[in-house]
Amino acid sequence: MSVSIRPLRGSFAGEVSGLDITRPLGAADVAAVEAGMDTYAVLVFREQHLTDEQQIAFTRNFGELENYQSAGHIRKREDHRLGPGMADFSNLDRHGKIMSTDDRVWFFKLADRLWHSDSSFRPGPAKYSLLSGRVIPSWGANTEFADMRGAYDALDARTKAQVAGMVCEHSLIFSREAIGFVDLTPEEIAAFAPVRHPLVRRHPVTGRLSLFLSAHAGAIVGRTIPEARMFLRDLTEHATQREFVYSHAWKPGDLVMWDNRATMHRARPFDHGEVRDVRRTTLAGDPPLAAPAHVA
Ligand SMILES: [Fe+2]
Repeated sequence: MSVSIRPLRGSFAGEVSGLDITRPLGAADVAAVEAGMDTYAVLVFREQHLTDEQQIAFTRNFGELENYQSAGHIRKREDHRLGPGMADFSNLDRHGKIMSTDDRVWFFKLADRLWHSDSSFRPGPAKYSLLSGRVIPSWGANTEFADMRGAYDALDARTKAQVAGMVCEHSLIFSREAIGFVDLTPEEIAAFAPVRHPLVRRHPVTGRLSLFLSAHAGAIVGRTIPEARMFLRDLTEHATQREFVYSHAWKPGDLVMWDNRATMHRARPFDHGEVRDVRRTTLAGDPPLAAPAHVA
């Protein structure tokens, strides 16, 4: 069976068929998936009931895993439900029970409902993220993706000239503050010191330009904070219009893989009384490439 990728109707994302990702992949299949990622930036694989080990093995076809031991994590290792390499995006505690809505871990998770790019608060933000749907609530819980290449291309000439050369500061503090969660420890504040990234980034493979927006972006170098926040808010509104968005309605066994260098995403609400068990593996990325100076 050979791999085929077709566009998902009415969106920029693609759906992969003819591939069993629970098994080791050959070089041609890895190359086909990578080419699909460069074209679509979001790929959906259906009916892939992965174990954590299989998910990690599939992910490692495309690079190195992000190091979860590094700074910027709010849960101690012994409080994790899942093993190393797996990021837990469920609403479950380490014992597999639904966590309290008063739990500060839950407050951190809630801010994932803001549009963001994974690990944009790190010097080397994530390359790909892979989210595996294990247990899906009966209502809501979609994950939405916005195409930052299309959003950049659709800017008018004046705005393209404005964003050219702009540098943003990203920190987890900004995205948590946006939902009123400001109760951070001095250690967390130190660990989440802002990092700087270009607002327009160039994809290292395709060369396409995109807006590197994220809820973690809370300042623009050389601008006042209110001016920067309003500018970023307007730009985010533009970039997340429905014409740039694919909304994924989960089924158990779905795996969705996205390129954080070309997209933003957000989680959508669900009934907290129901279990949502989704598990992410993440590939480490390099510092973003800025757009060439002549582009405006
Ligand atoms: Fe995310």
